[in-house]
Amino acid sequence: MRGQTESGTPFEPVYGPAALNGFDPATALGEPGEFPYTRGVYPTMYTARGWTMRQYAGFGTAAESNARYLELIGHGTTGLSVAFDLPTQMGMDSDAPLAGGEVGKVGVAIDSIEDMRTLFAGIPLGEVSTSMTINAPAAVLLLLYTLVAEEQGVDLSALTGTIQNDILKEYIARGTYIYPPGPSLRLVSDTFAWCREHTPRWNTISISGYHMAEAGATPAQEVAFTLADGIAYVEAALAAGLTVDDVGPRLSFFFVSRTTLLEEVAKFRAARRIWATIMTERFGAKDPKSAMLRFHTQTAGVQLTAQQPEVNLVRVTVQALAAVLGGTQSLHTNSFDEAIALPTATSARLALRTQQVLAYETDVTATVDPFAGSYVVESLTDDLQAEIERLMGEVADRGGAVAAIEEGYQKSEIERSAYDVTRGVDSGERVVVGVNRYQLAEEEPYEPLRVDPAIEAEQTGRLARLRAERDQSAVAAGLAAVSAAAAGTDNVLVPLRSALAARATVGEVCDALRAVWGTHQPTERF
Ligand code: 3HC
Repeated sequence: MRGQTESGTPFEPVYGPAALNGFDPATALGEPGEFPYTRGVYPTMYTARGWTMRQYAGFGTAAESNARYLELIGHGTTGLSVAFDLPTQMGMDSDAPLAGGEVGKVGVAIDSIEDMRTLFAGIPLGEVSTSMTINAPAAVLLLLYTLVAEEQGVDLSALTGTIQNDILKEYIARGTYIYPPGPSLRLVSDTFAWCREHTPRWNTISISGYHMAEAGATPAQEVAFTLADGIAYVEAALAAGLTVDDVGPRLSFFFVSRTTLLEEVAKFRAARRIWATIMTERFGAKDPKSAMLRFHTQTAGVQLTAQQPEVNLVRVTVQALAAVLGGTQSLHTNSFDEAIALPTATSARLALRTQQVLAYETDVTATVDPFAGSYVVESLTDDLQAEIERLMGEVADRGGAVAAIEEGYQKSEIERSAYDVTRGVDSGERVVVGVNRYQLAEEEPYEPLRVDPAIEAEQTGRLARLRAERDQSAVAAGLAAVSAAAAGTDNVLVPLRSALAARATVGEVCDALRAVWGTHQPTERF
């Protein structure tokens, strides 16, 4: 049976010397850890240090999520990754009118410094790297994290972790945006500047293709639109007076890994090669770390099925292997039951064990870039690079990522690809085991984890007590300073941090910014 690429078009991989048409691995690839980093960003890769096993987790209250993090650490996870609930992601407090029914549902509810303190109780923040999937209010949650780290006695210059902070993909695919692109990009560049001064080891952004892929983007679209967003962030930093080497080393990326393993390995290798060239040739980066595309991978959520959920264990294993063979720095493996509900403790452990089997029972970590020189992977890498660069040209022709977003270009291209995928599944041309082939006459019952709706009352009660106990005049003064900075040109993170330390809430500081910057109104293009 012929192979199929993720875009659904059957491909006939060319094997043998013809695939490499005069290709010389030594010159086209370079060495691992050397420009253009096709073979990996570090010379030794996993032979010296394994990828970070970083399971995305968070639900309910800060106390419940804290328990899950301690459990994951006990099972051997080597990095933390916080999922926030939608009210937090939208810069709203748990008692905001629009928050009803969403508190603690798809992630943890964080309203204040008190919740952040509870979230990391018993976890030494100087010894762990934490990723936070937060975008529009990313600066706010980062500042809360740094306040709690300081309370623990951590030197902020040693603090490691990442905030996603990638607002452009929110306009394209994920939707948790607040402010219009202009003020949002100012908040991103203010964050770059603040972190460069206060938390130099913190990764200031995780430029994400994952959500575009989950929305239907092909591998080439996923990388092209992500790198185009990366270019926009570097340009915003330059416009704010920063240099490419001020920000480049702390940019990071986030991609999906699909079951089409060979194509995914090629995708990661092409992405590194293209980004290295953009940063050195277009932006003149001199620091080698500015040219290294370091990325996190999450296995493809959309490829999980609710039918015969145990089959997802196989899919996640193949997807995780694709990420590892592609040289990821950090990895989240989905739980097999996630197409049904939040992972249970058992399914979350099994997801982590999948990574541990790959890391400790296989030999894929014994060498760097095992596919180097492979006829099919090298030709796929070249083919994908050509298609990615073509699509990046399409974005550039529209004036760059922000202008293309405002035109609705990326969104409509992804929707077109999503339609092709759906048509392929409906026709059976794209096989989904258990869904359009090898179905069961009757699905076996599965009891998922459910979030207790009572946590909403518990969380709003905690908020009421915080508001009653805090120094209201200090909060009011802090919020006024946030509004003044938002209306001016000073770095807005400075007054934000003071207001949060005075126990202003996430919603209150985000509202202070809304009052000055307004909110984004999407352009709909069909
Ligand atoms: N040789 C030399 N040094 C090495 C090495 C090697 N082989 N391997 C690692 N190192 C060093 C690195 O240089 C680094 O040092 P530094 O801190 O001084 O820079 C240190 O060891 C840690 O290594 P990495 O930086 O490679 O690994 P991290 O795990 O710390 O960081 C990252 C990885 C991709 C750069 C970072 O940005 C990250 O962790 N991202 C995670 C993002 C994430 O988890 N996102 C979740 C999204 S979920 C979501 O969006 C929601 C849902 O909708 C999907």
